[in-house]
Amino acid sequence: MPHVTVVDHPLVQHKLTLLRDKSRSTAGFRRLIKEVTLLLGYEVTRDLPLTTRRIETPLAEMEAPALKGKKLVFASVLRAGEGMIEGLIELVPSARIAHIGLYRHPQTLEPVQYYFKAPDDIADRPVIVVDPMLATGNSVAHAIDLLKAKGATQLRLLCLLAAPEGIAALDRRHPDVPIVTAAIDSHLNDHGYIVPGLGDAGDRMFGTK
Ligand code: URA
Repeated sequence: MPHVTVVDHPLVQHKLTLLRDKSRSTAGFRRLIKEVTLLLGYEVTRDLPLTTRRIETPLAEMEAPALKGKKLVFASVLRAGEGMIEGLIELVPSARIAHIGLYRHPQTLEPVQYYFKAPDDIADRPVIVVDPMLATGNSVAHAIDLLKAKGATQLRLLCLLAAPEGIAALDRRHPDVPIVTAAIDSHLNDHGYIVPGLGDAGDRMFGTK
């Protein structure tokens, strides 16, 4: 079973309610996605390894904590992952960004890759896969397949909302990848949308509907 953390912080839950509300404007939706992502980003980076570094404050020398190893990678599952990347870059300005473009094949409904770019040394870096909606889990699981094939080993998934079906799918395919989410909703409808959910995250953040 993948380890699932639900960030039930009052600010996260309040902002999630504002996001779910169908009357939210595109500008408001974008701003809220960024705000919630900043708060979730705090949780998803909680156990990054630390080392110490010798520095001098104006008063004394000290061994001060600093992130250990290479900079982390945010892996954005296009296109909705992009809305969360802005908040994450604010939190970790030196992070590397990977992009994974997938679409659903109209006949087989299986994810098909149209774009993939990630740092060559991804094996040495912690990787946070970013996709706001863990629905069927097919595209995220496929994105993780591609990242693992490139060498990534230290992976975790950051989403806004997860469906039980998506969590189960990820459990089957990638039980080693922990999940951080703001909520686990009831179920998927016949079209693969999370219920009650927040609708199509990409359309709402890019104003394409
Ligand atoms: N993708 C979305 O944007 N919304 C859902 O509810 C499911 C998948």
